Amino acid sequence: MFESLKPKPADAILALISAFRADERSGKIDLGVGVYRDEQGRTPVFAAVKQAERILLEEQPSKSYLGIEGDPVFVDLLRPIVFGQRIPQDDIVGFQTPGGSGALRLGADLIAAARPQAQIWLGLPSWPNHAPIFQAAGLTVRDYAFADLTSQTLSFEAMMAALSSAQAGDVVLLHGCCHNPTGLDLDAAQWEAVTALCLERGLVPFVDLAYQGLGETLELDAAGARRIVEACPEVLVSYSCDKNFGLYRERTGALYVKSRTPEAVASNMSAAARVSWSMPPDHGAAVVRAILENETLTASWRRELTGMAERIHSVRSALAALHPALAGIARQRGLFSTLKLTREQAEALRSEHAVYLVPSGRINLAGLRSEDAPRFVEALVAVGVLARL
Ligand code: LMR
Repeated sequence: MFESLKPKPADAILALISAFRADERSGKIDLGVGVYRDEQGRTPVFAAVKQAERILLEEQPSKSYLGIEGDPVFVDLLRPIVFGQRIPQDDIVGFQTPGGSGALRLGADLIAAARPQAQIWLGLPSWPNHAPIFQAAGLTVRDYAFADLTSQTLSFEAMMAALSSAQAGDVVLLHGCCHNPTGLDLDAAQWEAVTALCLERGLVPFVDLAYQGLGETLELDAAGARRIVEACPEVLVSYSCDKNFGLYRERTGALYVKSRTPEAVASNMSAAARVSWSMPPDHGAAVVRAILENETLTASWRRELTGMAERIHSVRSALAALHPALAGIARQRGLFSTLKLTREQAEALRSEHAVYLVPSGRINLAGLRSEDAPRFVEALVAVGVLARL
């Protein structure tokens, strides 16, 4: 049977993890996979997470199943962080999921069950896993140009023009903040315009909020998502705690769905989750719960998250100051920017300069130690991505 399978190309982002590890050159620079790194190049466990794990070790009474929807306390503790205090929650169903990817897949399955002919509108470039997740659920993906990499700006007019041809009941995938892979976020007026368009055309927003707190603050990074959730009658929000709690491999996330029929939505989410993972993994969610139930740990988590956002800002400013063609990087948010380069240039950066980045040109700014920034810019000049000054 398996002889019929053709080998699949390796995932471009994940392939970099092993290639970087196998590289024995000193001074190698990893701007690949989207994990936060500190000034020493480490991805430390948050102090609040360590403390929460100690609490769990002592006090967790059982590891028995929680149920298909996960731990409702975890899901509810996240609500004020995601939605603020003002948005009523009665019509928003929340499920714990295996990371943000699990939330996206659960949302995709729910859409496919409700409206199999719905098209998903995706601005490009986007996280390379977005389209495959929706397609795997049987949905049709429509794409449009979201960013202009030459000017490092958002193609907002193209976005609005594309969405103006969407049909009622189509779904619009929006990055809540810290756009992956460009760092280009909608501003408040643009969120307002997209919200109005969704309302006018009967489009359903699906907000992917995977980096809350890594852009500006928890509040500011959720402002667009909150605006659209408040205004639209049907919205999906996929949430990831992997980055903002540093829980990556614990696969910690949630899907929230606002609808007019929360009971039917919840039962369909249960059915979809049951055939995918049955019940979600819980260690990461239990850690998040232990942090958010404890004021001291919550304050410590917030402090550490603020420090991460500050370091990312400082790397962005350092790069922008080193070369005029990188000035746009300082105006973007979150871990990522995407440089306009060819696959050959990406390959030369890796082979000649030990700089690892996704062949699409995406760089993870947090992978750069300040002291390596000049060497990185020199490498970009050497392979012809940037002009010599
Ligand atoms: C990334 O974009 O690098 C992360 O979200 C990791 C992944 O799964 O691609």
